[in-house]
Amino acid sequence: MADKQAKLAIGAETYDLPIMEGTVGPDVVDIRKLYGTTGMFTYDPGYKSTASCESALTFIDGEEGVLLHRGYPIGQLAEHSSFMEVAYLMLNGELPSQDEYEDFKVTITRHTMLHDQLRQFYQGFRRDGHPMAIMCGVVGALSAFYHDSTDISDPEHRKISSHRLIAKMPTIAAMAYKYSVGQPFMSPMNSLSYTGNFLRMTFGVPAEDYEVIPAVEKAMDRIFILHADHEQNASTSTVRLAGSSGANPFACIAAGIACLWGPAHGGANEAALNMLHEIGTPDRIPHYIERAKDKNDPFRLMGFGHRVYKNYDPRATVMQKTVREVFDALKVKDPVFEVALRLEEMALHDDYFIEKKLFPNVDFYSGIILSAIGFPTTMFTALFALARTVGWVAQWNEMISDPAQVIGRPRQLYTGPTQRDYVPFDKR
Ligand code: CMC
Repeated sequence: MADKQAKLAIGAETYDLPIMEGTVGPDVVDIRKLYGTTGMFTYDPGYKSTASCESALTFIDGEEGVLLHRGYPIGQLAEHSSFMEVAYLMLNGELPSQDEYEDFKVTITRHTMLHDQLRQFYQGFRRDGHPMAIMCGVVGALSAFYHDSTDISDPEHRKISSHRLIAKMPTIAAMAYKYSVGQPFMSPMNSLSYTGNFLRMTFGVPAEDYEVIPAVEKAMDRIFILHADHEQNASTSTVRLAGSSGANPFACIAAGIACLWGPAHGGANEAALNMLHEIGTPDRIPHYIERAKDKNDPFRLMGFGHRVYKNYDPRATVMQKTVREVFDALKVKDPVFEVALRLEEMALHDDYFIEKKLFPNVDFYSGIILSAIGFPTTMFTALFALARTVGWVAQWNEMISDPAQVIGRPRQLYTGPTQRDYVPFDKR
């Protein structure tokens, strides 16, 4: 902390506000005592200028297109690490030793099975229910099955519930898929990697062996790394806010899943691929670019723009490269990739997108890869939720372990009627 101060003048009065410094990134003005000293609130819907917490997990420099997890650049993690190692890093703060890594993988693997009664829970959903609807329900229901790890004041409980959530999410997501296509659920297979196991539970059938294709496993694992955390985004803030009341972690993560579902957040990967299919051929791109620029048309280029990145999203760079790797491994081509590349090129040369600093985000290319691997678009956001669970539980743990933690409770600018007397029906 530095002893820099900000000065706030309200009428003739001047107030000193402390300035706090992080390790990197903008300083923040500490306004915690503002209401007590001035009787005023600040107004910042959408939190465009508000730091809601201190965090040592993830850093983003949106102007430069930098994303660091515990200090490590996302490009290096995507290239050299694994999703399990990133999960360990996020939860524990440092990269694991070889032994710690092996132990962690065994721990997660041993938690992948679901309570058998949860299978019946699935039967209550319609077969055409969206996987995210099923994920919200099933993850919320976990708290009814795993009572023995819901004492949030106990660090051991917090650790076990975090491991359970990370471990069970692939099983839950794969079962949501299996239920929608009417195939039997596949039990986890402990000899496989986290990601290989997920692919088998999704695409395997009990009638035959399933062979994990290493290049696909690697691409999928990388996609999980790219989605693991993204500091105080909407769903993470939802998890923190839900958790600030002392709610159990399973309920908090279910709240995060609900928030992630929206098309402005995790739902954008599904929307982006649907949009690319709708565009269909490169000659139709100019029409859609014009629509995106038209203020009277609600259409936006999905997979484009970001609240924080005003530069190329570093995750989109890795995604674009991964599309080619998956196409090569599966010996497939998808004309929609050509549409995406052309759309990106045209948008990046268009004054509207240049002025507003709108670049492709993580969702622009991810759908093309997931579709090539065989996932239906409705599963895309469920995969995002699976991966983001690492960030959610790491952020939730960080918040609960912080002795300064209090319930999150924003204030408001009230614009409704002033006090008035109740009027009986016959006088209205
Ligand atoms: N297409 C066309 N115009 C856009 C787009 C877009 N994709 N994104 C932003 N703009 C315009 C917007 O109309 C506004 O123009 P003006 O200043 O003239 O009113 C300006 O750019 C700023 O947009 P904003 O909506 O005020 O910015 P925001 O920070 O509130 O929204 C966003 C960020 C991601 C919600 C938005 O860019 C968007 O809707 N993008 C499409 C959805 C998407 O791809 N979401 C995934 C985000 S990355 C993954 C994740 O976080 O889950």
